[in-house]
Amino acid sequence: MSSITSFAPGRVELLGNHTDYNEGFVLSASIPYGIRATGSLRDDGVICLSTQMGEWLHFEVAADAPFVRRGEWTDYPLGVVGALREAGITVGGFTAEYVSDLPPGAGLSSSAAMEVSTIILLEKLLGISLPGIELAKLCRRAENEYVGVQCGILDQVSSLFGKQDHAIFLDCRKTKVETISFPHDVCLLLIQSGVPHALVGGEYNERREHCFAAAKHLGVPFLRDASSDLLAASPLPDLERRRAAHVIGENERVLQTVELLESGDVAAVGRLMSASHESSRVNFENSTPSLDLLVSLARATAGVYGARLTGGGFGGAIVALVSRDAADAAGASIAAEYERRSGHHAKVLKCDLADGALVLNG
Ligand code: GLA
Repeated sequence: MSSITSFAPGRVELLGNHTDYNEGFVLSASIPYGIRATGSLRDDGVICLSTQMGEWLHFEVAADAPFVRRGEWTDYPLGVVGALREAGITVGGFTAEYVSDLPPGAGLSSSAAMEVSTIILLEKLLGISLPGIELAKLCRRAENEYVGVQCGILDQVSSLFGKQDHAIFLDCRKTKVETISFPHDVCLLLIQSGVPHALVGGEYNERREHCFAAAKHLGVPFLRDASSDLLAASPLPDLERRRAAHVIGENERVLQTVELLESGDVAAVGRLMSASHESSRVNFENSTPSLDLLVSLARATAGVYGARLTGGGFGGAIVALVSRDAADAAGASIAAEYERRSGHHAKVLKCDLADGALVLNG
């Protein structure tokens, strides 16, 4: 069979921070940067993986061989193979070469883009067809069970379900996805702090535990089931109260934003994004001084409606909602001032909301 190329984008989390594994709501989008995977089947059972400039790595992974976590990028594609096999799908040998224009460690989910580009490639090569939500669940399983990060389903859904000029509204309990038209007079600035983020670190899993403990104290299965009123009326240790306040507040902000987008009130959406960052900073403590500086510079810049960290936090990037006409000037001025004050170089990506993963040929 001739070779196939798939593309899977990174994602931006617009609102709904750390809500996914609490069975809550998220508003996100695919971005026009991502990972291309080009590959074909092999009949010798060997899996050959490479990045653009790197050497080819060969894995003789028999279908019944236990998965070995290597702590390398190859865990993502091999984890997808493991998840597909666990689901009863026969995956033999294949090649895949990955080319990315998505910065790793920027909090724009290069890991989900690698999983999704792999699964879309394999789906086509193997001649199978699975519903998008099943693909997302398999990729999440790859990351949870094989890579070892206990992430929710936000990143994988956002890479698969993007639609140009639309946001993705995800109900994580029902795994129900809707796309919502995004106003045309605004675009996004994704600004990388230059300080990488690494989710494989313990903080993410630790925040998860705090949320589950808070839900238990509140007497609800997940924080999705708790309200601000219930939180106010319940005695809770301070740490758990703040973690719960963040997730409950984020769920409320997502639902409000869905309505505001329908009426095109971008100024109010921007205010909710800024409130989300403040809650990350104070309640969830997943921001960093660099992200705080970027957000405060962005908020003080003409044409910016609001800004917040995006994704897991603890480094990575911020997202700013900005008037399309002012975007270039705003991005340049935020980056210059950030560099002057922090000594770090901020990389600015101006972008619109983009289509999700697809096969580019074949
Ligand atoms: C990371 C995880 C997601 C989600 C976000 C925070 O991106 O992979 O599942 O939890 O953090 O909202």
